[in-house]
Amino acid sequence: MTARLIRGRLLSFKDAPKSIDDTGSYTYEEDGAVLMENGHIVAAGGYDAVKSQAPADAIETDHRPHLIMPGFIDAHIHFPQMQVIGSYAAALLEWLNNYTFVEEQRFSDAAHAARIATAYFDELVRHGTTTAVTYCSVHKTSADAFFTESHRRNMRMVAGKVMMDRNAPPGLLDTPQTGYDDTKAVIADWHGNGRQLVAITPRFAITSTPEQMEMAGTLMREHPDLHMQTHLSENKAEIEFTKELYPWAKDYTDVYERYGMLGPTSLFGHSIHLSEREADVMSETGSVAVFCPTSNLFLGSGLFDLKTLDERSKPVRIAVATDVGGGTNYSMLRTIDEGYKVLQLQGQRMTPLESFYRITLGNARALCLEDKIGALEPGREADIVVLNAAATPAMALKMEAVTKLTEELFLLQTLGDDRAIVETYIAGEPAKSTL
Ligand code: GUN
Ligand code: ZN
Repeated sequence: MTARLIRGRLLSFKDAPKSIDDTGSYTYEEDGAVLMENGHIVAAGGYDAVKSQAPADAIETDHRPHLIMPGFIDAHIHFPQMQVIGSYAAALLEWLNNYTFVEEQRFSDAAHAARIATAYFDELVRHGTTTAVTYCSVHKTSADAFFTESHRRNMRMVAGKVMMDRNAPPGLLDTPQTGYDDTKAVIADWHGNGRQLVAITPRFAITSTPEQMEMAGTLMREHPDLHMQTHLSENKAEIEFTKELYPWAKDYTDVYERYGMLGPTSLFGHSIHLSEREADVMSETGSVAVFCPTSNLFLGSGLFDLKTLDERSKPVRIAVATDVGGGTNYSMLRTIDEGYKVLQLQGQRMTPLESFYRITLGNARALCLEDKIGALEPGREADIVVLNAAATPAMALKMEAVTKLTEELFLLQTLGDDRAIVETYIAGEPAKSTL
């Protein structure tokens, strides 16, 4: 594949920003460039230095004055919920039963799953998201449709066939054995196939029997390198129902703990209403709490106490995600904007540097994928987003008053959406302009 050189202002994080203007946490190049070849970043830095390393036939694209960053990472999203987004419901369990469990049944149909998979990746690319940790439906067909399309586009995805064997319509149930067998088959077909990664995906404690939870724990022991994703402590009624179903459990987290499901590659969507004991166990096991601000607000689930989890003596690792279709937007820019407001309501602050760290390197670290994605550094995969902070008339006007990088980032966060994404590069190839 021909090498590509892209020119613009480069921003890439090295570590979590510790203050509003922590210049040591990132690298910034006013006249920068990234050289990409064979899906990877070969060089990134000042334009002249990078240009001198480029082969003579490299294709050069000038994105000045736009900002070039690592592609955005969404740590929790449901691909079969593209037609659930924006469904009118009071709270989680009603929303699941009245809309989500109805819609997801359609994914037993391979043609439907394939159509939605195409639309899904189009939407991610349009919004600058280059990696998304995704729930498919219970049907193996949905996972096959998902990975077929992701592989075709050469995208770095993490996804799993949902395991669920109770408390949902019959068309949406597997069994402990078929859930295990189908997950095994998805792993055999897709894990490590190109850029695809499979996650073990028990939906949540309510929709799995103890027998299925055992099977999920078994799968994790058999495949310790895989991610595990599920939901935890999102909603008060959900927590109460879980306690009824698992009367022996100390708390909700204890259910997952007993089946051996906590650990550094385990992602727990929402994790809003955690006790000190639960937060301690999450911390000790390196488990990740996934903050889904638009979803938590839309479903009235609660306010994620990010700063307390992050700054307690035993900190909990945190990722950020859209949770579409409980979440209301595919954009990680819209997501950090709503996340900022969730913190505001609790008297907490999230700096612009922290927001952009979280949706790039921060999420890559939370997924234990920082050796592959999340930074503009040689050797990393060339998943890149190009941002225009003056993409709309309102943004352009505000941009006139912007004097520094952190203000530009905050403008992108506050007013930005898919219109601010000029280009999305997937493994070194332009993917948005070619949609
Ligand atoms: N808990 C179990 N399933 C789901 C889901 O699909 N969305 C959300 N937000 N919470 C869940
Ligand atoms: Zn979810």
